[in-house]
Amino acid sequence: MENVKINRLWVASSGQVAERAYIRIECVYLEKDSSILLFRFDGQCRAYINQCVHMPFRLDCEKDMIFDHTGNKLKCSMHGIVYDPVSGESLSPTLCTGEKLTPVKVMETDEGIWIADQRITAVKTG
Ligand code: FES
Repeated sequence: MENVKINRLWVASSGQVAERAYIRIECVYLEKDSSILLFRFDGQCRAYINQCVHMPFRLDCEKDMIFDHTGNKLKCSMHGIVYDPVSGESLSPTLCTGEKLTPVKVMETDEGIWIADQRITAVKTG
């Protein structure tokens, strides 16, 4: 059986990502500079590549926030697409319906929060 090594990159302590809060992490994704949105929703840390499905803008490009006013959906600050935070799917009835944000694998241990995704080869924290 082949032993597949999973690289993991530490990005934050658990206390740095409160419920319905997020941090933006600059990273190298598929060998290009990019950014990750890491947030906590219903207790669980989740992450997506920070790029809207509508146009190549970051979700937080216009406002330093990613949740809508209810706190139950993600929202792009450029033209307002709302996303399911769990599936990353666009819930907008008119823009990119059903298209999905790109998920990033995250794990949380006693030591904190890690990006564990082979496509992410470097992160810049702090
Ligand atoms: S760029 Fe996000 S809704 Fe248009």
